[in-house]
Amino acid sequence: MTTIGVRIGLATSAVALLLAMSTAIVAQDKPDAAGTADKPAAASATATSATYRDVYQGWKWWHVYCYRCHGVDALGTTNAPNLTDPNEKFTRAEFLRIVKTGKPDTAMQSWSKLLDDKQIGEVYVYVRARADKVLPPGRPDEVGPNKGLWEPPAGWRAR
Ligand code: HEC
Repeated sequence: MTTIGVRIGLATSAVALLLAMSTAIVAQDKPDAAGTADKPAAASATATSATYRDVYQGWKWWHVYCYRCHGVDALGTTNAPNLTDPNEKFTRAEFLRIVKTGKPDTAMQSWSKLLDDKQIGEVYVYVRARADKVLPPGRPDEVGPNKGLWEPPAGWRAR
């Protein structure tokens, strides 16, 4: 190999290593019970709106139960629809009904044994924020100003 060939080879492996590292970080970054422990700002309830808290909780449930079929950020996979699609907007009542009963003869099961109405309502607020394009992709506690907490636009609420 020429010197240039070696350099390019090194640069390529450095890039590959960086990619592997960032993938590992993303993979580790799953929500868990301690999800807010390292984020003191998220814990201060006074500083966060009820809408923010619903979105954050909904994001957590989403990335435990729903993302494996409906995709990270609710963008869908080959297994299940993209719930940010404009044709996939549901009212809260419709969403609750579908998620509680599931869709017969499809991979969409009933979630009523794993999630109560409050939790499904939080998932709804998260999905609605994504569908209304007011919430960017990513963790709600990292997509706000200065990579901090997301701030719901004034007047926005999940209908
Ligand atoms: C095992 C895969 C899987 C998981 C996990 C899953 N879904 Fe689904 N979901 C589907 C499939 C497949 C459909 C489409 C069913 C159909 O053909 O009508 C669907 C449909 C839906 C629909 C209706 C979309 C429509 O166009 O009618 C909603 C809402 C929904 N899922 C929400 C959720 C939520 C919320 C969760 C997590 C609590 C979840 N899903 C978890 C597979 C899944």
